[in-house]
Amino acid sequence: MSGAKSERMSGACGASGIAYGSIALGARGGPRARYSRRVTSLPASAALSLAQVRRVYPGGRVALADVSLRIAAGEFVSLLGPSGCGKSTVLRLLSGLDQPTSGTISRDLPGDAVPGYVFQDAALMPWASVRRNVELPLMLRGEPAATLRERVDAALRAVDLADSAEAVPRELSGGMRMRASLARALVTSPQLWLLDEPFGALDEITRFALNQTLLSLCQPTGGDKPATAVFVTHSVYEAVFLSQRVVVMARPGRVVDEIAVDVPYPRDAGFRTTPRFAALCAQVSEALQRASVAGASA
Ligand SMILES: Nc1ncnc2c1ncn2[C@@H]1O[C@H](COP(=O)(O)OP(=O)(O)OP(=O)(O)O)[C@@H](O)[C@H]1O
Ligand SMILES: [Mg+2]
Repeated sequence: MSGAKSERMSGACGASGIAYGSIALGARGGPRARYSRRVTSLPASAALSLAQVRRVYPGGRVALADVSLRIAAGEFVSLLGPSGCGKSTVLRLLSGLDQPTSGTISRDLPGDAVPGYVFQDAALMPWASVRRNVELPLMLRGEPAATLRERVDAALRAVDLADSAEAVPRELSGGMRMRASLARALVTSPQLWLLDEPFGALDEITRFALNQTLLSLCQPTGGDKPATAVFVTHSVYEAVFLSQRVVVMARPGRVVDEIAVDVPYPRDAGFRTTPRFAALCAQVSEALQRASVAGASA
């Protein structure tokens, strides 16, 4: 992969930067490994990989017991599971904001591989205009003024916020704030998107619209290469609509199932009304139910 940066870090290391590779879901075989893996073709070469990753917080809380996961370049994967099963921890580890206690994380992505990280809360600077918020990552990188404005304008157009560039966050609706947050991630043209329940607080219609926006950013039509995306959600429907693979986690921090969504992009609203969508949602719901029961009895 030309220009690719390959990074690798092991547990308890003090490695700086972000580790990408593939996310290998699934713990070592053990008494709890009783779920049938429905995905038979895990990517051979991975952009992101976690191998037997364990994360124990000070005080002894086991956030991840044993997670192995591989994600291919350009793949869109959702993480689904009950509260506290370690989804956000996986994202933090993939971003490099956190380090594993043991195990290995690696990533191999083109470009500078700085992820576009989108949080549940839009997390905008309240005193700054939408434009100032969106340009921040570029300013921090020392982007020349000549191209900075152009890139910010393009990002704002992509999320349909060009008309609100000079507004401050309190003047925006919740959906508009999330679009500004997406633009702030998009402006750096990330090869990797890490999204932690970004649309959880939004009404269904706004969420559907932003799902579509996100897909157009990560899975562009017209020959541009797709970005790799790891998306945390509590919504079965959202996971199925967006993803190529849904990874189901249970407490304490382990992968218990994964379901392939073998429906090609582009996907539009029509996909939500197909029998295939309904069948996949039922399949994912059942897996989530099993994961909740498994977590409760763990
Ligand atoms: N900084 C921390 N210190 C101690 N324990 C933590 C810390 N962060 C997370 N945990 C614990 O690790 C476990 C996994 O947390 P994590 O935030 O990854 O879960 P999650 O699946 O994202 O949950 P939710 O769906 O509620 O966001 C939880 O038991 C949580 O209490
Ligand atoms: Mg979380």
